[in-house]
Amino acid sequence: MSGTRRDFIKKTCGLCASVAGIAILAPTLQGCSSLMRVQPALIEGKLSLPVSSFVEEAKVVIIQNKDLEYDIAVVKYLDKTYRSFEMRCTHQETSLVPTNSGFHCNMHGSSFSLTGKVNNKPATENLKEFKTFLDSGIIQVSI
Ligand code: FES
Repeated sequence: MSGTRRDFIKKTCGLCASVAGIAILAPTLQGCSSLMRVQPALIEGKLSLPVSSFVEEAKVVIIQNKDLEYDIAVVKYLDKTYRSFEMRCTHQETSLVPTNSGFHCNMHGSSFSLTGKVNNKPATENLKEFKTFLDSGIIQVSI
């Protein structure tokens, strides 16, 4: 009888752990599913990336470059326009983390929309934006 009870507890705990693991992992996967990182060269103050960097339903592509102190997020909007923002929290200059709805600062909890506006304090200034334009399928970001 106790063997049966022990088996029941093992199976139940195993199932709970699996469900909890999926619940913890799901937001992480969701957050990463549409995120692409590129490392274009910085040439004459410009970073260039092909529009094709935005695979499938990607809204944000992150530019990384060794000459930049912070990454840059290039955001694609529904009207197929693009804007670029420095991934630096305007509160105390911590690197931001991209999410599906914008950018989050893990230091004190500020968040910013995909248009660079402050959603949550303590930050009060919007993100620094870079001039961004599209030319023949190439997105160019002026630094
Ligand atoms: S440094 Fe980002 S909220 Fe404080």
